[in-house]
Amino acid sequence: MSKSSKKLYDPEFVSGMFDRMSKTYGLANLITSFGFTYSWRKQCVKDLPSIKTDSLGYDLMSGMGESWGEIQKILGSQGKIIAVDISEEMNRKAKEQLNRLNNKNIVLAPNNILDNDIPSNSADFIISTFGIKTFNLDQQKILAREIARILKPNGSFSLIEISEPKYLLLKLPYMFYLKLVIPIIGRVFLNNAEDYKMLGRYCTLFKDCSHLHQSLLEENLNANFKNYFFGCATGVWGTK
Ligand SMILES: C[S@@+](CC[C@H](N)C(=O)[O-])C[C@H]1O[C@@H](n2cnc3c(N)ncnc32)[C@H](O)[C@@H]1O
Repeated sequence: MSKSSKKLYDPEFVSGMFDRMSKTYGLANLITSFGFTYSWRKQCVKDLPSIKTDSLGYDLMSGMGESWGEIQKILGSQGKIIAVDISEEMNRKAKEQLNRLNNKNIVLAPNNILDNDIPSNSADFIISTFGIKTFNLDQQKILAREIARILKPNGSFSLIEISEPKYLLLKLPYMFYLKLVIPIIGRVFLNNAEDYKMLGRYCTLFKDCSHLHQSLLEENLNANFKNYFFGCATGVWGTK
């Protein structure tokens, strides 16, 4: 692995990048994805094999709590979400978001998921939306091992990430948009071209969720692979 791609996956580098992006992440998400990320989060939560209303689970790489609304819809007030994110600034914004919510069944647990102190067999479910692309292949293996360790037997999981579609007709315009148009939007509207340029770079290197899928299978989880909108996002879901 080259020195520059080693740095790309250094958790300190990644959390610094999200600290900077936290200022504009909400707005950027809205204008750059045309609402797709909103609907994909919804589908990802729906793909979680059935959980009870009093379940306890983890939202990994939780950002500012973008998925909480959808998870709360199925959980009810007796359930609990533990939100795990490495970025100090994302966690600070998540705390502000939590203060605004009526249902406060969420606990923030700032943590690096690759090196965490989450108890084993403690979760009924694990969810993660758009937090996998900044992991390299080895880190995805660690993530799979952690999911298998943290879930209770019969616990369920669903994770989704922006991906590189297989069909050339879709791949060319989509990657053009991610790699060239989004950085321009980042520069013109969000005053941060560099970090938004990284999105396309991470997506090209990440490709899709197939390596994570394989890693979850190797951890003896019942894992399924899923394409969202012809592979513009992919996901994994299943049970322990
Ligand atoms: C693209 S954001 C996704 C946020 C949110 N889940 C969403 O749906 O928009 C990725 C998040 O993953 C977090 N993250 C990256 N690496 C992490 C790690 N090793 N441990 C915990 N969180 C991490 C970042 O800080 C960032 O907030």
